[in-house]
Amino acid sequence: MTRMRCFGGCTRPLPARLHRFQGADPAGLPAYPQPNNMALTIPERLAAACRKTPERTAWLERLPDTVHDLKRRWALTLDRPFDGEEGSCAWVAPVTRADGSSAVLKLGMPHWEGEHELHGLRFWDGDPTVRLLAADEAWGAMLLERCEPGTTLRALPEPEQDLVIAGLLRWLWRVPAAPHPFRPLSVMTASWSNETLADAGRWPDAGLVREGLRLFRELPHTSPTEVLLATDLHAGNVLRAQREPWLVIDPKPFVGDPAYDATQHLLNGVARLHADPGGTIRRFADLLGVDPERVRLWMFARAAAEPRDEWEDDDSLALARAIAP
Ligand SMILES: Nc1ncnc2c1ncn2[C@@H]1O[C@H](COP(=O)(O)OP(=O)(O)O)[C@@H](O)[C@H]1O
Ligand SMILES: [Mg+2]
Repeated sequence: MTRMRCFGGCTRPLPARLHRFQGADPAGLPAYPQPNNMALTIPERLAAACRKTPERTAWLERLPDTVHDLKRRWALTLDRPFDGEEGSCAWVAPVTRADGSSAVLKLGMPHWEGEHELHGLRFWDGDPTVRLLAADEAWGAMLLERCEPGTTLRALPEPEQDLVIAGLLRWLWRVPAAPHPFRPLSVMTASWSNETLADAGRWPDAGLVREGLRLFRELPHTSPTEVLLATDLHAGNVLRAQREPWLVIDPKPFVGDPAYDATQHLLNGVARLHADPGGTIRRFADLLGVDPERVRLWMFARAAAEPRDEWEDDDSLALARAIAP
């Protein structure tokens, strides 16, 4: 059930195949020709995610020209893009700036949940996220402070991850002053509900899913406080850095209930959730200083009613049954 959201949004079957892959670079990765005859390496996981919608296919077709343009405008020397287990929704590469300093260039594929990533980074302004050094809003392109060594928080055992993530979330949760561009959490839960309703014919347990959908409607409107949430903060989006021990990357900001922000990290630790769902939820909620009952309800709603590719034999439904209200 790791990172349901990104993959939930990116894995629907779509017809388009990319036509412009030409050969492979020495690492076996497909490469696009660039106007200056320099090939742009495209990690296969990103290519696969982009094949799934015509909009993303078109975005990937334009990517080499866009990167070339940004490289010139921001005077960058590019290195090979990151191609690890973590990312698949963006083209992200280490770069060197004209003054010799290191940075990271990130261009996210079209993905509505991540639409305000650069606005979020501007709002948090380095506390405790990576800093936004430059941006091209039209392209959603970001030049980011580079985390070095950049090891993910997954390298630590889960109890230590809990402490780091709880500290980062409490630091992130601030109220944005109006006017701001951020959408309410209810927009996200409404969109997920529509996707899930469209799959009603495949639900194995309609009662459970309907209860989850009810909570998706209700929970956004009963929160005691509303703050800017990261919504995708899990250990893979927390990197080792120099100016702080850990910095947050890849936020998908929405305004809403802080208890919601507990869910992404918890859903990434499936084994302990199944072994002791109530205790795992309660301990992490206590670290966050949020109401454990609201975390449990959000966890139930996501496990029961979040859109997914496979509805049968889903671990999520077992979790939903274990923590049902
Ligand atoms: N600021 C950064 N400093 C160092 N590495 C980074 C930085 N941003 C991203 N990365 C690397 O790129 C990978 C994917 O980045 P991420 O923003 O999480 O993309 P995605 O949206 O695809 O999840 C990360 O796992 C990390 O290895
Ligand atoms: Mg990420």
